[in-house]
Amino acid sequence: MDKIIVKGGHPLQGEVVVSGAKNAALPILASALLADGKSVYRNVPDLADVVTMLKVLETMGCGTARLTGRQKDMCEVAIEGPITPEAPYDLVKTMRASVLVLGPLVARFGRARVSMPGGCAIGARPIDQHLKGLKALGADITLTEGYVEARAKQLKGATVNFDVITVTGTENVMMAAVLARGRTVLENCAREPEVEELARVLNKMGARIQGAGTSVITIDGVESLKPVDHAILPDRIEAGTLMVAAAITGGNVLVKHAQPEHLESVILKLRETGCTITAEEKGLRVKAPKVVNSVDVKTTEHPGFPTDMQAQLMGLMTVASGTSVISESIFENRFMHVPELHRMGADITIQGHTAVVKGVKKLSGAPVMATDLRASASLVLAGLRAEGKTEVARIYHLDRGYERLERKLRKLGADIRRVKA
Ligand code: EPU
Repeated sequence: MDKIIVKGGHPLQGEVVVSGAKNAALPILASALLADGKSVYRNVPDLADVVTMLKVLETMGCGTARLTGRQKDMCEVAIEGPITPEAPYDLVKTMRASVLVLGPLVARFGRARVSMPGGCAIGARPIDQHLKGLKALGADITLTEGYVEARAKQLKGATVNFDVITVTGTENVMMAAVLARGRTVLENCAREPEVEELARVLNKMGARIQGAGTSVITIDGVESLKPVDHAILPDRIEAGTLMVAAAITGGNVLVKHAQPEHLESVILKLRETGCTITAEEKGLRVKAPKVVNSVDVKTTEHPGFPTDMQAQLMGLMTVASGTSVISESIFENRFMHVPELHRMGADITIQGHTAVVKGVKKLSGAPVMATDLRASASLVLAGLRAEGKTEVARIYHLDRGYERLERKLRKLGADIRRVKA
């Protein structure tokens, strides 16, 4: 298996471009199922998870193409023949977000059979709210042999109040409601920019959605949708990760395409650590302070501090002056980076859902590995700061959500390389 080898101690300098957002690309690709014909997506990141979503669509009978050369960030999905509305275990087990085909399939084809995602490294992650929403729209849901089967001749609009704020749950039910008869009102929705982006795409396809980006979304069902040509928004979590990379190395980096309005909580937190962050025409410039202040943070749903940035901020806090208290309120098991950061000399104590991080003078390179995407990113960040060599193993996690991270960091002056196993 490939590894990343980092030698720390190089302040990052220069400019880096953020790729398209993974967590917008995945539901948007699934939404292609809602219309006949060929949809074209631009600024699609080249990630293992995107490849998996394309495989899920291909298995059902969709035509897919990833264009190469200059157009390498383009991707096409065509619905031109019969569709088998089924997502098999083999694919869903490698990526939970495959469950995003459930809503579009039942809305469009009246039937869906999708393998139930199991637990995952960061938590139990049930899909009860997805199913509650689909049931409210009139789908008949059964669970057999590890599969969710949903059937409905015609979905009907309804009011759904989510018990838990869920990003993909909001997206799945929103995609189902666009073809339901009448009006659907979704309450207690996720307000993430990726939900808003999906609604933007669906509206371009002819849907009638209002309120995405707020906690109440109203959808007036339409008869049919048409394919779309859309460029996906930049990835705010990749942007945030690169911003922390500048901060942790004492660098000065322009993170191009970073959208300040999607990164408010991250920007505010990094300013508290002493970073100077300025919006420039092309993105956000991050100048690291001489000494990083420790800050406390609690992850919450958007617009709060994102759980997907918790591990990276913790990496930064390991070398801050003072003690930082980091609480994780979204997932029950998202501190897997902690034992690995210990191996690099970090001083962190976990008490339930809270980690207390006492800043240390220096980290030292070590062989480490992680079982989750963002945890892996935090280890790379810590490696950029550590004295000596850090070897990050199991980087297939990193490749699920970061497009050639080591190349981007190397361009900024990091001593980092991938070694093929
Ligand atoms: N939850 C339920 N029932 C449900 C759905 C969710 O109890 O039916 C709980 C979850 O167990 C969790 C909380 O609600 O405790 C929030 O989970 P959510 O459903 O919002 O997460 P998700 O939609 O599965 C997306 C991102 C994650 C990101 C979370 C939170 C995608 C494809 N994934 O997951 O991204 O951490 O929202 O913001 O959009 C990542 O990119 O590294 C990643 C894990």
